[in-house]
Amino acid sequence: MTEPHLHPVQAEWKERALIDDATYRAWYEKSVADPDSFWAEHGKRIQWSKPFSRVKNTSFEGDVSIKWFEDGETNVSVNCVDRHLETKGDQVAILWEGDNPAEDKKITYRELHGHVGRFANLLKQQGVKRGDRVTIYMPMIPEAAYAMLACTRIGAIHSVVFGGFSPDALAGRIVDCQSTVVITADEGYRGGKTIPLKENTDKAIDIAARSDVAVRSVVVVKRTGNLVGWVDGRDIWYGDAVADLSPDCPPEAMNAEDPLFILYTSGSTGKPKGVLHTTGGYLVYASMTHQYVFDYHDGDIYWCTADVGWVTGHSYLLYGPLANGATTLMFEGVPNYPDQSRFWQIVDKHQVNIFYTAPTALRALMGSGDDYVKKTSRSSLKVLGSVGEPINPEAWEWYYKVVGESRIPIVDTWWQTETGGILITPLPGATDLKPGSATRPFFGVKPKLVDSEGQVLEGAADGNLCIIDSWPGQMRTVYGDHERFVQTYFSTYAGKYFTGDGCRRDADGYYWITGRVDDVLNVSGHRMGTAEVESALVSHEKVSEAAVVGYPHDVKGQGIYCYVTLMAGEQGSEELRKELVAHVRKEIGAIASPDKIQFSPGLPKTRSGKIMRRILRKIAEDDYGALGDTSTLADPAVVDDLVANRQNKK
Ligand code: WTA
Repeated sequence: MTEPHLHPVQAEWKERALIDDATYRAWYEKSVADPDSFWAEHGKRIQWSKPFSRVKNTSFEGDVSIKWFEDGETNVSVNCVDRHLETKGDQVAILWEGDNPAEDKKITYRELHGHVGRFANLLKQQGVKRGDRVTIYMPMIPEAAYAMLACTRIGAIHSVVFGGFSPDALAGRIVDCQSTVVITADEGYRGGKTIPLKENTDKAIDIAARSDVAVRSVVVVKRTGNLVGWVDGRDIWYGDAVADLSPDCPPEAMNAEDPLFILYTSGSTGKPKGVLHTTGGYLVYASMTHQYVFDYHDGDIYWCTADVGWVTGHSYLLYGPLANGATTLMFEGVPNYPDQSRFWQIVDKHQVNIFYTAPTALRALMGSGDDYVKKTSRSSLKVLGSVGEPINPEAWEWYYKVVGESRIPIVDTWWQTETGGILITPLPGATDLKPGSATRPFFGVKPKLVDSEGQVLEGAADGNLCIIDSWPGQMRTVYGDHERFVQTYFSTYAGKYFTGDGCRRDADGYYWITGRVDDVLNVSGHRMGTAEVESALVSHEKVSEAAVVGYPHDVKGQGIYCYVTLMAGEQGSEELRKELVAHVRKEIGAIASPDKIQFSPGLPKTRSGKIMRRILRKIAEDDYGALGDTSTLADPAVVDDLVANRQNKK
């Protein structure tokens, strides 16, 4: 592989950066040599109502137990709101920009305090107690943030479900965590269209009832004002309900290891897992990474474009920035509405200093031409970030040259729902950049590459990415299924956390994430298990068997390619293709829309009945000349038919 162009840290950063290269090296050394004293010091960056005396108590062996700051007590909403009242009460906490460019709102820390207190009192009135699970299914409006913070105020555990998920997917998540309270909106706005959130919630509640989970109250925020279904005694209008409630709600003192939130994410097998994060370590890690990775200074206007339904929306739209007293911009809409200039118009309108988005958005915008960017100023920008999937060097260079006019560092941040915060990343004033590389580990992070036998590879190497010791933001368990946690992350390479990603390390020690090595797809930065799409397909009456793989897609990163075997007597047709696409969207949501469906009378299986995905991937990539050894197949002739009818002919 040829080495791409190196972008050294620019001269002006040497002065303004919080962390320069020498500091990075010194802190990193200390953080891995003596994690206890390093994190004892940095653990103090948040406010504790009862200070911790123990720091790290973690083991990746046996049952796997992860505890940080375990005897400390704190409250996340106090750290994200109350703590700033004295010095920043009138500073904007949430800068909200509507889908419609004419709509925006500024919520100061003092106002945020009142909203969160009232919402918390409403939840209490609805009988929500410490430890209860509350499902949040919301558009990108400030009330989503109030709802999340209100849960943390009273020690309830939130489970935010992305508004693009279907009623079935929402129901599955409600049932898994036995949540009896749901917070939603009448409808959401996105790109000029409405999203039927309340209607989806009603359907989901009916589906959940079949599994004996009875949702007893639904708090509904009015966003569009359109007519929605209503169940008296169960549904409550948020606006009416909070009007008479006190803005003061005393915070619950939470133990550092009390659960903070559950976030469902896809794995290579089975249903999505409820990733559980706890209170103290998560907040320390989210706030510390937010400060140093983005070189955040007081007064900066910070914008992360992620939806609150994903982990990036948790750690870097809300918790990290608010814990640091930042002004965080929340955008309701999409990058191409009203047109492809929207992101940059918002940057100019609100004088955004730090901008954090996903490669898929950049690739889409890059495709529509530079004029949409160039007609805006963007002079306020000082840091650009990328997250969610590997950023190809072409998109990186476009981001750097066109958006940043070759003056702004790009932080390509690698992390996962499970990691709670960023693990591998440049720091703007410390790290020379290589387009496409997430570069170096953050403080306290010990990455290792291993081969398929688990042998640790040293120096420049290509392997599977593991992390060999804990960091404070790490997930603690799979909600309700600790065994699955141990099995999924710590059994492939005993004693190591396995990320599921492939990775190369170059001679400079820089890390290059190459993508998932398991059966997880990354479609437009959204994680999806091939098993989930397969099970949606086979739940259709005409489908007997399905196998799903990813293939390279110019904008989405990966597209979804489905091989479908129909029931005897059924015939594949364009119409049935459409029906199956609609079926998967109904089962999971629009983000799981199949891009290609190939009807195949047979799938390539070994004699023991295992589907050979390697072959299916090659055919989906139109690289069937490189199928490799097919002699172990039960019926090698199947492959000829698959190749002849491939849907991705170049
Ligand atoms: C991928 C999103 C390359 C990776 C925060 C990981 C990335 C999965 C990057 C987690 C990056 C995320 N470069 N790949 N900078 N960031 N990924 O849980 O495959 O939605 O395992 O968390 O996204 O996705 P998740």
